Amino acid sequence: MLDRKVKIKSIRDLGSRNYLLTLNAPEQARLIRPGQFVMLKCIENVREDPLLRRPFTIFDVPKSARSGKPVGLDLLIKEVGMGTRKLIQLRPGQALFCLGPQGHGFQVSSEMRNRVEIACLIAGGVGIAPLYLLAQSLLAQNVKPVLFYGGAAIADLVLRDYFERLGIDIIYSTEDGSFGERGVVTQPLAQFLKTHPRRDIRVYACGPWGMMKAVHALSAQNNLQCEVSLEARMGCSLGACLGCVVRCKDHEGEEQYLRVCQDGPVMNSRLIDWETAPL
Ligand SMILES: Cc1cc2nc3c(=O)[nH]c(=O)nc-3n(C[C@H](O)[C@H](O)[C@H](O)COP(=O)(O)OP(=O)(O)OC[C@H]3O[C@@H](n4cnc5c(N)ncnc54)[C@H](O)[C@@H]3O)c2cc1C
Ligand code: FES
Repeated sequence: MLDRKVKIKSIRDLGSRNYLLTLNAPEQARLIRPGQFVMLKCIENVREDPLLRRPFTIFDVPKSARSGKPVGLDLLIKEVGMGTRKLIQLRPGQALFCLGPQGHGFQVSSEMRNRVEIACLIAGGVGIAPLYLLAQSLLAQNVKPVLFYGGAAIADLVLRDYFERLGIDIIYSTEDGSFGERGVVTQPLAQFLKTHPRRDIRVYACGPWGMMKAVHALSAQNNLQCEVSLEARMGCSLGACLGCVVRCKDHEGEEQYLRVCQDGPVMNSRLIDWETAPL
């Protein structure tokens, strides 16, 4: 894990309080695995509020046009409070501290080549952030990703062009019916699993707690392995403050608390006590 002062290359307004922040961070970019995150100090002056850094997933790793080597980090930022507001007000050329890459990402390995044919990727809103690098690494293992991307309205379905360029199957849904199927994202997933009753499917989800709980339930009903990328308020991100714990069950069904920063953010959905959301 590296702590570096990195420069902002660009901040693109995607609408609906979503932004794509690109950082020049070649050293960190080379180390990224799908599902990992970085902790950003949201302002240049380290003494200014917010004092604590904020966690953001790595959406993409831009590469040099000349050498093909990783040179930066693309982060999808939803403006929700003081830290994210100050972050998106920074300008290209300004610098901030970036700690990472951190955390356990998704499990994708060459063993999947013969065992898994389809990967269902389920995103709710900014939960799309970890799924682009994941889709690319699944394709590299000959696994076919099918993306289920849902939001309240069409404006929440940002960065669709990235996934469309991969040429994968995508099923969009919006709660207000403004784009794709009307309703919640788990409806088309349930329909898909009904018409594809197979064992060689893996499920990956990121989004609001209730959505991931429903995805876990569908996966368990269909006897499928499911990995979820969790969110929790983070203090240190180093495993010390226990501010990010989530209630889980061990293999004997005994209660345990796992740290989203160190044991996650990606976890097997069967470990989690879905009745108790993190703070
Ligand atoms: C591992 C991880 C990866 C993340 N990846 C992304 C990402 O790619 N893009 C993105 O936009 N956001 C991501 N988040 C959430 C992001 O960290 C928070 O939105 C951010 O910290 C809010 O900071 P703030 O100062 O703007 O808001 P605050 O002023 O601290 O809070 C504003 C509101 O946001 C809520 N909030 C704050 N932090 C979180 C959180 N961690 N989870 C849920 N609600 C929160 C608060 O309850 C409050 O209602 C991620 C969180 C984690 C733990
Ligand atoms: S944020 Fe401190 S233990 Fe996870």
